[in-house]
Amino acid sequence: MKDSKKNSDRLIWLNGKLVPVNEAKIGILSPTSQFGANVFEGIRCYWNEKERQLYAFRLDDHYLRLVRSMRLFGLKNPYSMEELKEYLKETVRMNHYKEDIAVRQTVFVDGMGSWFSTEPLGMFIAPIGKARKKVPLSAGERVCISSWERISERDLSPRVKVGANYINSRAAYLEAVNKGFDAALFLNRMGYVAEGTGSCFFMIKGNEVITPSLTDSILESITRDTVIQIAKDELKLKVTERHIDRSELFMCDEAFFCGSAVEISPISAIEGFNVGEGKPGKYTIEIHKKYIEIVAGDNIKYSNWIEPVYDCGV
Ligand SMILES: Cc1ncc(COP(=O)(O)O)c(C=O)c1O
Repeated sequence: MKDSKKNSDRLIWLNGKLVPVNEAKIGILSPTSQFGANVFEGIRCYWNEKERQLYAFRLDDHYLRLVRSMRLFGLKNPYSMEELKEYLKETVRMNHYKEDIAVRQTVFVDGMGSWFSTEPLGMFIAPIGKARKKVPLSAGERVCISSWERISERDLSPRVKVGANYINSRAAYLEAVNKGFDAALFLNRMGYVAEGTGSCFFMIKGNEVITPSLTDSILESITRDTVIQIAKDELKLKVTERHIDRSELFMCDEAFFCGSAVEISPISAIEGFNVGEGKPGKYTIEIHKKYIEIVAGDNIKYSNWIEPVYDCGV
């Protein structure tokens, strides 16, 4: 797909400097380039037209996870929470975004070392326009169960956001597309449902919302936590975190993926079995509606989750 003018014009924060995207370069011999030696976050900011403000969603939680990812990956974190936040806000402000965006914030191993190198470290912050899904949700995705297993604690930790983990996601996604599906769902080493290739999984049976536990080989997802709170506190539904058997997938009433990038993404069929009536279910639609209200700063109860990017309305 051709880059829009705006995307090719944008500024990227790279090691303390804002540079045009085409000039933001990383060495070809760096461990990040050769071996995927990096950790990252995918952060969303939502435009509130009424307030003329852009709100960043759950920044503290994203940076807490980034710092944990660095720790597990053997990197010494040189940044304070305030610096991580301020650099993101500065980057977005200097790009004058007044629309929904997604921001990639990546800490990488630079220099010319090897796969085991832990320094020197670099960081880039790359925002890009990304519109929210429309309310109410319409079509869902046709999903297959991947023949690839989700990475487990015995090889790579799925809990953290390490670039190289996505090679596992890549294999599953390409397989799904080759087979004519829209998306893939991973099982874990024990054969229980894990997560999507870039998202967590929920299913609904009656009035119960069920999602795999954090020990089922999944990322410690911020959207998953948000959905759990919406389902419990807003929709007053029972929420259960437990193992999910493969066969339960063919008997649930509703199912969806969730994540910062995909937001709430309904599933219409799994392995050819319709989920419910094969269209987004009523609770999925309600959860998505609440989610968008919260991330866009339209629900005061959750104002501790959002942070303005601009000093005042613009
Ligand atoms: C593998 C995987 N699982 C789950 C998620 C959802 O995580 P979050 O809600 O923190 O974006 C993502 C997206 O980043 C992901 O890549």
